[in-house]
Amino acid sequence: MKIGVVGSGYVGLVAGACLADFGHEVICMDVDEKKIDDLKKGVMPIYEPGLDDVVERNVRYKRLSFTTDIDLTVKNSDVLFIAVGTPPKDDGSADLQYVLAVASDIGKHMNGYKVIVDKSTVPVGTGQLVKKTVNGELKKRGVSMDFDVVSNPEFLREGKSIHDFTHPDRIVIGCESEKAGEMMKKVYRVLYINNTPFVVTNIETAEMIKYASNAFLAVKISFINEMALLSEKVGANVQEIAKAMGMDGRISPKFLHAGCGYGGSCFPKDTKAIVDIAAKNGLEFKVIKSAIEANEIQKMKMVEKIVDSMGSVKGKTICVLGLTFKPETDDMRDAPSLVILPELIRKGAKIKTFCPQGFKEAKWRLAEYSDSIEYCNDSYEAASGSSAVVILTEWNQFRGLDLERIKTSMKDNFFFDLRNIYSADDSIRKIFKYSGVGV
Ligand code: NAD
Ligand code: UGA
Repeated sequence: MKIGVVGSGYVGLVAGACLADFGHEVICMDVDEKKIDDLKKGVMPIYEPGLDDVVERNVRYKRLSFTTDIDLTVKNSDVLFIAVGTPPKDDGSADLQYVLAVASDIGKHMNGYKVIVDKSTVPVGTGQLVKKTVNGELKKRGVSMDFDVVSNPEFLREGKSIHDFTHPDRIVIGCESEKAGEMMKKVYRVLYINNTPFVVTNIETAEMIKYASNAFLAVKISFINEMALLSEKVGANVQEIAKAMGMDGRISPKFLHAGCGYGGSCFPKDTKAIVDIAAKNGLEFKVIKSAIEANEIQKMKMVEKIVDSMGSVKGKTICVLGLTFKPETDDMRDAPSLVILPELIRKGAKIKTFCPQGFKEAKWRLAEYSDSIEYCNDSYEAASGSSAVVILTEWNQFRGLDLERIKTSMKDNFFFDLRNIYSADDSIRKIFKYSGVGV
C-alpha cells in the first residue's frame, strides 16, 4: 500500500518509519527543509531510541523516502496521514491552522480517491472541517473526486514510541465508510492479524477518545501528586499507597508515580483543549480543570520544598539533573524544569545542570537565564561545589550515581529526589538530607 505522511515530527516520523516496517511504501513529507535534508542523510531530527535503526532499514529496502514535495506525496499515496502539530492557542484551544493547511494542500493536489487520515490530536469536529476544506479546494479546481476522512488518533509515548506504535493497546479508527475502514485495516494489517484490538467508531467519537485518554492520565497523575503532598503532612508513604492502590485491577499501578508535575507536548495542551471543547459546549469540565491547576501548584510546591528545606537558596548553587519532561527524549515542551529552574534562579540560586539529551533545547528555551545556568558534562561535574542535588527527570543513569562521590564534592548535602528514584533506598538518608515526593 502507498502511504504519505504529512508532518515528520515525533509522531509522523515514527508512524512513517513503522508503517514502512509493516511492508508499506511510505513517503514522509515535511515543510521543514533542514529536517528532510537531514533525514535524507540519515541524520535523525529527534532523539528517540531505536528510530534510527527502523529508518535506516526501511530506506535501505526502498520502502521509506523523504520529501518536501506535497504534490508528489499526495499523488503517490492512496492513504495520507496528517501528523502536524496542534499547539495550544492563548485561550487553550487547539490551533488547527497546520492541519487545515495540509487538508487544503491535499485538496489542491489530489488526483483520485484518497483516504485522508487525521493522526494529529484534534478537537471534535475537525474531521468534518478537513472534509469541508478538501471539498472547498476541489470545488475551486472545478473537479469532483471521491475521498474519505478518517480519525486515527495516536497513543505513543515519546522515548518508547517505536514499541508503542508497533505494540499498541488498541487502534482507534473513526470513519464513515466501509471502504475507508477496510483500507485502514490494510494499513494496520500486521497488527490486525496479531489480534490487536480495533475500535471502529464514528469520527467524532475517535477524536474524543484521544482527549479523554490523555486527560484521564493527567488526572491520575495530579491525583497521586496531591496524595503525595498530603502524605508528607501525615507521615504516610505515597509510593506504598500507589503500589497498594495499583493492586486493585480497577485502578492499575500505571501512571501513579508521584513527581514534580507532568509536562510534555501533550498532557498540558490536551487537558487545556478538552476544557475549551467543554466550555464551547456549555459545560465546565471541573475534574480536568482541577488536574491542570494541581499540576501548576505541584511545580511550585517543589520549589517551596527546596527553599524551605535549605532555608534560602540565595547565593547557593543547585545541581539539577534532568531537564527534559521525561527520560529518553530530547523534548523540552512544557517540561517542569522550565518552571522550576527560573523560579529557583529568581530566588537567587545559581544552577549547575546535566541532562543526557536536553541541552540543545534548554539552551534556547532558558536563554534569558543563561547567566545563572552552567551546562555541565556529567552529573559529577554538576554536583561539584553545589549545595543541593535536585533530580527532575528519572534518566536511568541517575539511578546508579556514586552517591559518596557526589557528596564529597558538594558544599552541603541536600538531595531532592523529585521522581522518587532513591526513595526505597534507606542508605541515601545516611549520606544526604534527603527528600522525595510524598515519601
Ligand atoms: P512535531 O512538532 O514534532 O511535528 C510536526 C511536524 O509537522 C513538524 O516537523 C512541522 O515542520 C511539520 N509541519 C507543519 N506544517 C506542515 C505542513 N503544512 N506540511 C507538512 N509538514 C508540516 O509534533 P508531534 O509531537 O509529532 O505532534 C503531532 C501531532 O500528534 C499533535 O497533534 C500531537 O498532539 C499528536 N501526538 C503527539 C504525540 C507525541 O508524543 N509527540 C503522541 C500522540 C499524538
Ligand atoms: C503521553 C501519553 O502517555 C501517550 O499515550 C500520548 O500518545 C502522548 O502523551 C501524546 O498524546 O502526545 P508522553 O507525553 O510522551 O505520552 O509521555 P508520558 O510517559 O505519558 O509522560 C507525560 C508526563 O507525565 C511526563 O512529564 C511524566 O514524567 C509524567 N508522569 C507520567 C508522571 O509524573 N507520573 C506518572 O506516573 C506518569
